Amino acid sequence: MRVLLTTALAALLAATTLLAGCERPPVDTVQRGYRGTGMELVYNPRTAVAVAEANQAPAATEAASPDGPKAGQIYKNLQLLGHLSIGEFTRQMAAITAWISPKEGCNYCHVPENLADDSKYTKVVARRMIQMTQHINADWKPHVAATGVTCYTCHRGNAVPMNVWFAPEPPRANASFIGDKAGQNTPLKTVGLSSLPYDPFGPYLLGAQTIGVGGATALPSEHVASIVQTEQTYGLMMHLSAGLGVNCTYCHNTRNFKEWDGSPPQRTTAWHGIRMTRDLNNQYIVPLTASFPATRLGPTGDVAKVNCATCHQGVYKPLYGAPMAKDYPALLTLEAPSDGLPAPLAEAQRSVLYFGVGSAVLEADQAQGLSTVVATLVAQPRARASISGYHSASGELSANQELAKQRAFAVRDSLVGAGIAPTRVVLDKPLVAEANLAGEDPAARRVEVTVK
Ligand code: HEC
Ligand code: HEC
Ligand code: HEC
Ligand code: HEC
Repeated sequence: MRVLLTTALAALLAATTLLAGCERPPVDTVQRGYRGTGMELVYNPRTAVAVAEANQAPAATEAASPDGPKAGQIYKNLQLLGHLSIGEFTRQMAAITAWISPKEGCNYCHVPENLADDSKYTKVVARRMIQMTQHINADWKPHVAATGVTCYTCHRGNAVPMNVWFAPEPPRANASFIGDKAGQNTPLKTVGLSSLPYDPFGPYLLGAQTIGVGGATALPSEHVASIVQTEQTYGLMMHLSAGLGVNCTYCHNTRNFKEWDGSPPQRTTAWHGIRMTRDLNNQYIVPLTASFPATRLGPTGDVAKVNCATCHQGVYKPLYGAPMAKDYPALLTLEAPSDGLPAPLAEAQRSVLYFGVGSAVLEADQAQGLSTVVATLVAQPRARASISGYHSASGELSANQELAKQRAFAVRDSLVGAGIAPTRVVLDKPLVAEANLAGEDPAARRVEVTVK
């Protein structure tokens, strides 16, 4: 009897799990275009409630007084937020903690004995994330409008946002008797469980492959609409729809997918969204790869990246368009006004960093020396950092040069990790260290950074 019951229960459970993927009728439709054009949005009123509950913005805390000493005058290592009043800075730190690491608290990013210390990777990443958020709000208004984003838009109380993507692991040759599936026919959520190519992100949200399914001319003139690219385009479209929780008709008049004139205005917003997402991945997320521990990287060693769902989370506007960002002015503009930065830091034009024998590892105490140069670069957005690695005149030249190069790379990565755009960092050729009168070169194991 008991066996029978358990089996029945198991069958019932299996059935419910199977059906959980389907949408039980009745479903609701909302008309979005002229009558008779079939421009309708279909949604399930039962799942809609749960989605609505999961996408509420937390209330903002009350703004602190802008008066009094600036945070940059009190704290030692503020490269971005030094212009805020102490009260406003503290409120911003508390908000960031609630958005990113509510359980772990401040120590998720900070070494409790010294809050100025940058040795936790999370703090280095968070500093770059502050810049990325400012960049989204200041420079991507065609997409995010005045609504803008905060860290919460993506993170929602998690250190790693719930919706991120990695490059898929390349299939092992001969792993299946079906042979090479060429990156498709494996129903994955990324493309709505269809048999379409399951990595719609790499080509479009990192690379800039043309999105399209038909050529512009009657006869093939350029190879932009192969079957593969057509399928990849549809794969991306499945993600756009699923990521925003909408049908194709939210952005297209399905009479003609290509035509812009007949498309709803949301398609234009989405067009900017694709470019923005690509920009965030290339300018901010990927350059941070070296800062992350191996446990955070994907199967091919890449960092977790952004797609539409990272912000939208199944909703047409993230958090239903709640204007959270306006309550956090520090996240709205890109440039940290330099008046709040302590003067001596702003003037540092050069930093020299020393390395261990045969080592290209930039030790934490040395990396600290970079913070002055970083502050200068932040205060002077047009300035560039020029990096020269030195090596000894004795020993094997090619090995010496390689080591000098690796050390220069370590310094560059540290600058980029601290939020300096890679395009502002110039690597010079390795140089031979000058020897003293006795023929020794005690300062050979060094890298010099100069602000120009
Ligand atoms: C998600 C990471 C993160 C969390 C969590 C966090 N901080 Fe910070 N904190 C930063 C970053 C990044 C900076 C540097 C900002 C800059 O360069 O302008 C910073 C700087 C500081 C500084 C300045 C230290 C100095 O002398 O330079 C203080 C003080 C501080 N945070 C306090 C706090 C407190 C208190 C909490 C908890 C309520 C907290 N932080 C939580 C990332 C974080
Ligand atoms: C557009 C989406 C987006 C926004 C906005 C955003 N982040 Fe992130 N964040 C990411 C992604 C993607 C990662 C990489 C995930 C990972 O850590 O593996 C990440 C990682 C991090 C990490 C590393 C966490 C860990 O444990 O690996 C920290 C810390 C962080 N973000 C802080 C912030 C802060 C602070 C803000 C706001 C100033 C912010 N983020 C805004 C997308 C975002
Ligand atoms: C959130 C808005 C949005 C949704 C939802 C959406 N699309 Fe698109 N679609 C776009 C944008 C934007 C482009 C143009 C992209 C570009 O050129 O960068 C596009 C392009 C296309 C194209 C290529 C047309 C050409 O120029 O050859 C096809 C086909 C297409 N979409 C089909 C679909 C299908 C099918 C769905 C539903 C599964 C869908 N789209 C859902 C925004 C959307
Ligand atoms: C950094 C976060 C972020 C990312 C990533 C993002 N969006 Fe958005 N998106 C927003 C915000 C914020 C709004 C609300 C703007 C407003 O209030 O008008 C928005 C609005 C939209 C709208 C307009 C909705 C409407 O009803 O007016 C569309 C369409 C859209 N996004 C599509 C996309 C697509 C497609 C992608 C991926 C290629 C994407 N978004 C990626 C933040 C993001």
